[in-house]
Amino acid sequence: MSPFLLTRTLPEDATDAALRADVLHGLTHTPKTLPPKWFYDAHGSELFDQITELPEYYPTRAEREILIARAPEIAATTGARTLVELGSGSSEKTRHLLDALPGLHTYVPVDVSESALTQAGQALIAEHPGLGVHALIADFTGGLALPGTPGPRLVAFLGGTIGNLLPAERETFLASVRALLSPGDSLLLGTDLVKDESVLVAAYDDAAGVTAEFNKNVLHVVNRELGADFDPDAFAHVALWDDAHEWIEMRLRSLTDQTVKIPALDLAVEFADGEELRTEISAKFRENGVRGELATVGFELTHWWTDQEGRFALSLSTAGTSR
Ligand code: AVJ
Repeated sequence: MSPFLLTRTLPEDATDAALRADVLHGLTHTPKTLPPKWFYDAHGSELFDQITELPEYYPTRAEREILIARAPEIAATTGARTLVELGSGSSEKTRHLLDALPGLHTYVPVDVSESALTQAGQALIAEHPGLGVHALIADFTGGLALPGTPGPRLVAFLGGTIGNLLPAERETFLASVRALLSPGDSLLLGTDLVKDESVLVAAYDDAAGVTAEFNKNVLHVVNRELGADFDPDAFAHVALWDDAHEWIEMRLRSLTDQTVKIPALDLAVEFADGEELRTEISAKFRENGVRGELATVGFELTHWWTDQEGRFALSLSTAGTSR
């Protein structure tokens, strides 16, 4: 077998169809919304990489600290022979796990970006002789099918990205992950934690304005892909803490009364002065909440690790026999 395989489970035009559907639905809805997955074109991914290095944006550093400290324990507890990483991107954090899992047979990075998968996959193979890499071009919120590689399997979903899903979407997603696994397989989940509002808001509204640019990038994506005429300067970046839901919301606030044309959808969208478009929720978690959400879909949380400052958690769970 070739050490590097790439499987496309998304049709070439699926992205375009999904963007159209999301924009049509989100911009004709009250209040207006757009899903965060459309931030991540090449420029948006570059901006996100910059965000991870901002002084205010602690989650990436906190998670890396935990991963480095706990990788040997994760390896010993799971005995994983197949590591599946959902939303693998550059696979930067994965290296810590791969180094700790010498018995690993196959690494399965899953991402919508073919270029990221190919780049990261080839580099990992060079660093880990004997490791197979079977990359999947797929949307991890859709129906995934895993290659028939040996167990035990460990699914990793890092970065706190699960916080981008609404509670009902999280349950559907976690149930679909559980359905991919057999009893005794494991899930490693990264979750950002509830903390002081000022710390959270600063992480999503940095002084250098990188997150504001990242937020507005979704407008550039819609302009380029659907021929729209959004003026990103006519919107302000907003980050706020919703204390009832315990999530951060990012919004774009229209600075004037304006009409935006979206030719590919034959649509004209009116924004009132001050009207806000929600572009992301980033939920923050507590241990008992995570434990409960996992138990609901048949995972038993066995380990809960935080960074020294208690800002971020990695949890390890096993797939139970019943669900
Ligand atoms: C990549 C989804 C984990 O929610 O913190 C960073 C994305 N948004 N700054 C997050 C993001 C604004 C990030 N995740």
